[in-house]
Amino acid sequence: MSHPSLNYPFAGRRVHRMGYGAMQLAGPNVFGPPKDRAAAVAVLREAVASGVDHIDTSDFYGPHVTNQIIREALHPYADDLLIVTKVGAVRGDDGAWLAAQAPEDLRRAVHDNLRNLGLDVLDVVNLRVMGNIHEPGEGSIAPQVETLAELQRQGLVRHVGLSNVTSAQVAEAQRITQVVCVQNQYNLVQRADDALVDELAAKGIAYVPFFPLGGFTPIQSEALSALAQRLQSTPMQLALSWLLHRSPNILLIPGTSSVAHLRENMQAAQLVLSDEVLAQLNAIGGSDAHRAA
Ligand SMILES: NC(=O)c1ccc[n+]([C@@H]2O[C@H](COP(=O)([O-])OP(=O)(O)OC[C@H]3O[C@@H](n4cnc5c(N)ncnc54)[C@H](OP(=O)(O)O)[C@@H]3O)[C@@H](O)[C@H]2O)c1
Repeated sequence: MSHPSLNYPFAGRRVHRMGYGAMQLAGPNVFGPPKDRAAAVAVLREAVASGVDHIDTSDFYGPHVTNQIIREALHPYADDLLIVTKVGAVRGDDGAWLAAQAPEDLRRAVHDNLRNLGLDVLDVVNLRVMGNIHEPGEGSIAPQVETLAELQRQGLVRHVGLSNVTSAQVAEAQRITQVVCVQNQYNLVQRADDALVDELAAKGIAYVPFFPLGGFTPIQSEALSALAQRLQSTPMQLALSWLLHRSPNILLIPGTSSVAHLRENMQAAQLVLSDEVLAQLNAIGGSDAHRAA
């Protein structure tokens, strides 16, 4: 039984493995504005005060609203704060998530992120591939990655990552530019990426699961609740700690609009799980837990 390492090299620095995902701050259905903007600002300030140095966002959250709230809460940014954003989609008037992957879409998205975050250069930009909405599908992503590499050469983007991609797409992108992270759906009950997590760990590439708690429908399981009660912990803390124990290259970006949930989630980094508990969590993930859509 050993404590998982609490930081990892990412985008030219070391970050705490417990980061924060800002998507929930936009309001219901990630379509802003939020009911309580001051509460959203408070969550971000609490996150940074608690040691978060990696925030995940996108200008299509809101749209624009989440980035504007991040700017209001945290600008001018601390030198050690890494803000990771993503491009590749836009929102319809009805809140629909629409692919926007043409070169001019990607350039516009980078400029939207720069303006709304109040930055001259973006630390990490993930290309969000839109083949299937929540799971990757094969197909070349070379034209989009080449556009991001061009934006890198122009000095607007420091590092490139990928989201919702396959191993073959990571390999294709790496022939164009260095890939610093992959952000795919993965959690206690969604483990389609098990092999990819290990492959990226061997290459020193960060794996940043989206929906680490199950997303819009957080993971629910009687067995998980019973185990959490036995360990004087919570189901969400165990789901996060399982990810921290799963592989050292996994960086967490749990999302919450609540300071109380943020505090609960941050405490998960302190948990040390025995092999016996990890085996029980593995069994829960493979059996009765609710699988989020
Ligand atoms: N690349 C992509 O395609 C993609 C897709 C989705 C998300 N993301 C990124 O991944 C981040 C994380 O994903 P996510 O926020 O959608 O899902 P998540 O982190 O799996 O779960 C968020 C949900 O869990 C609830 N929650 C959080 N902490 C809780 C706690 N301690 N107890 C009970 N409920 C809790 C939140 O509600 P409350 O607000 O009430 O706490 C919210 O409904 C996002 O913020 C975003 O940055 C990326």
